Amino acid sequence: MQPVGDDKAPTTGGSQGLYTNGGIVMAFQERERQHATGATHSPRSLSVYFIAAVAAIGGFLFGYDTGVISGALLFLKQSFALNATTQEIAVSAVLVGAIVGAIVAGRLNDALGRKKTLLLLAVIFTVGALLTAISPTLVFFLVCRVIVGLGIGAAASVVPVYISEIAPARLRGRLVTLNQLAITVGIAVSYWVDLAFAHAGLAWQPMFASAAIAGIALFLGMLLCPESPRWLASKGRWDEAQAVIEHIKGAQPEQELADIRRSLSEQRQQRGVRELFTPRLRGALIVGVGLAVFQQFVGVNTVIYYAPTIFQQAGFSSASSAILATSVVGIVNVLATIVAILLVDRLGRRRLLLGGSIIMVVALVMLGIIFAHNSGHIGGLTLIALIVYILAFALSFGPVFWLMSAEIFPTRVRASGASISSFANWAANLLVSITFLSLIGALGAPATFWLYASFGVLAFIFSWLLVPETKGRSLEQIERYWENGRHWDKAA
Ligand code: BGC
Repeated sequence: MQPVGDDKAPTTGGSQGLYTNGGIVMAFQERERQHATGATHSPRSLSVYFIAAVAAIGGFLFGYDTGVISGALLFLKQSFALNATTQEIAVSAVLVGAIVGAIVAGRLNDALGRKKTLLLLAVIFTVGALLTAISPTLVFFLVCRVIVGLGIGAAASVVPVYISEIAPARLRGRLVTLNQLAITVGIAVSYWVDLAFAHAGLAWQPMFASAAIAGIALFLGMLLCPESPRWLASKGRWDEAQAVIEHIKGAQPEQELADIRRSLSEQRQQRGVRELFTPRLRGALIVGVGLAVFQQFVGVNTVIYYAPTIFQQAGFSSASSAILATSVVGIVNVLATIVAILLVDRLGRRRLLLGGSIIMVVALVMLGIIFAHNSGHIGGLTLIALIVYILAFALSFGPVFWLMSAEIFPTRVRASGASISSFANWAANLLVSITFLSLIGALGAPATFWLYASFGVLAFIFSWLLVPETKGRSLEQIERYWENGRHWDKAA
């Protein structure tokens, strides 16, 4: 780490300062700039939207690789003679991998940089997808799913962190939320791909192999994208950081560089991950982990992973009608996330969280009441309740958790903070997913949905009391909010 304010730091806001030397030096610097910006032929100006969209392929893979198991399971059951327990293990293997991936993501992301980490994850996704598809035995299959899970768990925090560090403050919410859109598209596409292959009489292998296409696209796309300017600056590579910011269309170079410099010059002694547990930053960690846990404890993945089961219990007698109803839920999830993208930088994070949790609670209470009066013909009502529920989730905790986990931590601990939050999210996900069917068995469906509703109430209170509004603030302003004991700068 270079001392702050070192002589590598840019002294001018514009690019001219770099071009005052002789021709050879200039040519060399140009090569350096191209390298830093990721352009191999000529300095390429890329739009922030393009960069965010490429990185969000990581989110697509997150959604696809978690959703694909639902349809594939029917075929895996036959191939590997799965019973109820081995089915649960087949579903959960990816989550176990994701928990581990979430833990290692922070270190990897800081050591290698955001770009190289994403390239590495693209390789893991691609190789993992192909190996899964040729699994000869159940154990081999499970190992492959754990490997893919490592990629998912890591990508879940690496992608939002990368986008948040590339994006200008006024677009950050929207751009990071592209990742959540990609997750929901990935889930919906996986349902349709499963359906198409099943229809064509093909088994589970091509369902998993298809993910390799997205893995390769992520790899090729990331080759074009630049490293995060904030990561470069945090390593003292100021020239490259400046070059990157100047080549991003839509960035505000002068202001962003000044912000980054100020923030890094205010850095106190480096304390690594432990700094997150100091009184100054504890608040940020509580918000990150709290949102992570509530995002799962409101029960979203009982819907995403088990919707066909819920619909069958509600009276959709045939498997195909249950799967069709599930795909409707998947599409609403995508559409509502598009609305969230439009709203998150206008209404702000808090309003979405508060409004969303109230509507989720209402939908879950309704769902409980519907199941309490189950006459065998509650399919229509169940579908409506689940649509309202997923709509509210997709407008609130779905996108806002991943967004805030990437924006509330200071640059020096951003990757670690996001990675700890992501870990909490995957662990909570696993807990909810493996207990859902047993809870229905033990408590009954109504009480189970009411249990999730009560977490929705806690999620509301938590957001109301502890979550700051970060809309329109630069990452550096957010950093100072925590340093100033939860107060925004007057000038901000
Ligand atoms: C959650 C996933 C969930 C997905 C549904 C994500 O934000 O982290 O667990 O499956 O949203 O859209």
